[in-house]
Amino acid sequence: MTNISRLSKKIGAIAESATLKVDAKAKALQAEGRPVISYAAGEPDFPTPPHIVDAARAALDDPKNFRYTAAAGLPELREAIAAKTARDSGWEVPASQVIVTNGGKQAVYQAFQVLLDPGDEVLVPAPYWTSYPEAIQLADGVPVEVFAGADQGYKVTVEQLEAARTERTKVLLFVSPSNPTGAVYTPEETTAIGEWAEANGLWIVADEIYQNLVYDGVRAVSIVEAVPALTDRTILVNGVAKTYAMTGWRLGWMIGPADIIKGAANLQSHLCSNVNNIAQRAAIAALNGPQEPIEEMRLAFDRRRKLIVDELNRVPGFHCPTPEGAFYAYVDVTGALGREIRGTTPRTSLELADLILSEAEVAAVPGEAFGPSGYLRFSYALGDEALLEGVRRIQTLLAE
Ligand SMILES: Cc1ncc(COP(=O)(O)O)c(C=O)c1O
Repeated sequence: MTNISRLSKKIGAIAESATLKVDAKAKALQAEGRPVISYAAGEPDFPTPPHIVDAARAALDDPKNFRYTAAAGLPELREAIAAKTARDSGWEVPASQVIVTNGGKQAVYQAFQVLLDPGDEVLVPAPYWTSYPEAIQLADGVPVEVFAGADQGYKVTVEQLEAARTERTKVLLFVSPSNPTGAVYTPEETTAIGEWAEANGLWIVADEIYQNLVYDGVRAVSIVEAVPALTDRTILVNGVAKTYAMTGWRLGWMIGPADIIKGAANLQSHLCSNVNNIAQRAAIAALNGPQEPIEEMRLAFDRRRKLIVDELNRVPGFHCPTPEGAFYAYVDVTGALGREIRGTTPRTSLELADLILSEAEVAAVPGEAFGPSGYLRFSYALGDEALLEGVRRIQTLLAE
């Protein structure tokens, strides 16, 4: 008998994605015929706009798409991404500094693989998207949480970041708009954080995947637009999933300084080679084609955002700041904990989420998936009727 474990320590330590777990539980109950309303999914409920699907169809008729292509991506797509980055992030980056990845998720993974040595620390503003700490740990880095609650609009301050900085700190993760909170940093806040990072020689990994989903006239200013000196030490992560309703197409990208991108391209060439050419052709149509369908989706999200935030704030014990971006409402539920409801007394948001699922048949993701307990995330990427019905069920349950 050998005492070598079956699974490596690194892989054995990975936690199952909590968001996918809640979604799977909701779907299993639905399959049993229970009328579960799920706010768990992190994806638009709209179909991909037809002109994008048409471009993919046309790509299937062209045999050159059946072959391996450059690992870093199709030249036309890298150009389209560079143009989008100049437009939306204010960085006139050459296409050679763009790599196309299998979703933003792979870009996040590669960013930390390329930057981190064992023990390097990454400042992770919390609540955070559930995959960041795993991606950091898989690169032998150490995630250092910096928490901002509802009282500060879920946005960390320079003072908090400075208090968490050590001589091992290498990277600041910057996500605006944020998943799970929908918080968007103002241009002034972004500049202050960017200048602090620049002054301390930190690297930035900026996840801009929700940058086009913003409301109330706000703009999510890129940290490299706010502090241009950071372009030599920043990796931007982005993709078509959220803005273009293309989550299943698996198309994202990373942008950074030439040496970093060269390193990431080397990694990707051994990991997965090029991204599916059909998805790449579709992404060219998404970025270069008409943007009206995207605006229609954004307006629908905006309407739902107002509906859900109003209703959530009517639930006894719930407090939901108005999110300015993405498609999530993040509710402070501490006021609803510690009280007996139908024979149980939920003391954590995990227990409250379980109670709401079993008693009201409504699925929301507990804060434990994104950092501290005491919160529930509601995605409002679902139709108006279900959107209202689900929150009303919670209102009824928690008013008992
Ligand atoms: C903040 C954030 N970044 C990146 C991603 C990855 O998106 P994808 O891999 O689908 O492009 C997600 C998806 O949920 C996300 O919420």
